[in-house]
Amino acid sequence: MSANARFTPAARTSGISPFRVMTVLERAKALEAQGRSVIHLEVGEPDFATAQPIVEAGREALARGCTAYTPAAGLPQLRERIARHYRDSQGVAVDPERIIVTPGASGALSLLAQLLINPGDRVLLPDPGYPCNRHFIRLAGGDAQLVPVTPDSGYQLHPELLDAYADAPVRGVWAASPGNPTGTVLNLPQLKALSQWCERQDAHFLVDEIYHGLDYTDGLPSALQASPDAIVVNSFSKYFGMTGWRLGWFVVPPTLVTASHILAQNLFIAASTPAQHAALRAFDQDTREILEARRRAFAQRRDFLGGVLRELGFTVAVEPLGAFYLYAGIEKFSDDCEHLCRVLLEEFGLAVTPGTDFGEYQSRHHVRFAFTTGMPELEIAADRLRAAVASGKLST
Ligand SMILES: Cc1ncc(COP(=O)(O)O)c(C=O)c1O
Repeated sequence: MSANARFTPAARTSGISPFRVMTVLERAKALEAQGRSVIHLEVGEPDFATAQPIVEAGREALARGCTAYTPAAGLPQLRERIARHYRDSQGVAVDPERIIVTPGASGALSLLAQLLINPGDRVLLPDPGYPCNRHFIRLAGGDAQLVPVTPDSGYQLHPELLDAYADAPVRGVWAASPGNPTGTVLNLPQLKALSQWCERQDAHFLVDEIYHGLDYTDGLPSALQASPDAIVVNSFSKYFGMTGWRLGWFVVPPTLVTASHILAQNLFIAASTPAQHAALRAFDQDTREILEARRRAFAQRRDFLGGVLRELGFTVAVEPLGAFYLYAGIEKFSDDCEHLCRVLLEEFGLAVTPGTDFGEYQSRHHVRFAFTTGMPELEIAADRLRAAVASGKLST
């Protein structure tokens, strides 16, 4: 065997595409290093630093020497605190035993793919959707089938759409509410309908709720309200503003608890200990007040940027009711989102993510704007967008 062959990645990695958003980010940083000004509307990360009470709790945990491994499923008191959060915010009783703490929602999703999917199993996912999910499923040997979703269904899956895929066994349905890149949500009847469809098909129903809390509704239902059998993923990254701490969790039905523990032990031993201690403060009243103020700031940004985009001829077909993204149609200008993103970045100093990051269905006709930057920057972004549209350079 040649030296090159020894260092060739395994075949299963070949279908895993890179995040285009990271390419945009790298190029934006390179332009900034040359002295250019770039407004970042690409990154899916809150611009607010972690709230002080959480930081303090992390610092105190380190000072107390809390640096050893925790149990694989997480600190018992954190699992209890998360269970209480479901009771208080959703009115559902979740046994803390069913909650597994993970290194981010990413750790949860990759573990769940290994836990739930046999080689060849079909799993249905919305297109557009969070790109890593199809990769987690493929790495587990599964067959990730992208189901085109449109504004008609609020960019979400629903039973009639799924029926078209029921001609062969379906192992699972993976949804997200609020979704990335569209920010659209599933209400309780929709969650129930999807969960009943899964039950009829003998499929698992997984809902990624990482943007819960960051919603602009009167209370967003968790899939656990629709069905105690739903598998739910969540994270401290987005609403709780702890991206870099790498902490998330998932909830499984009792029959999956033991296998989840074993996989957690083997895949990562445990999530970060100081991060878990810090997260214990994430649910307290003083922290919640800070997070709620941030949520209101995100809502204001959404209204402002959404208004500007519509005024300029971008289409925002469904108002996002959660997350911090606007998924905008560019058909008035171009059918090549990558070209449009290149022009916006290189000529107008605006970093935006091409729709092609999120799937195949009409993805070239869309871009994603993240409002993860403050109002002053968004106002500059609005001026630059106006200039870009007026220049005619966005058109292909
Ligand atoms: C829908 C969705 N799920 C999961 C993740 C992973 O987040 P983390 O691993 O930081 O919790 C992201 C990150 O952007 C996301 O948008």
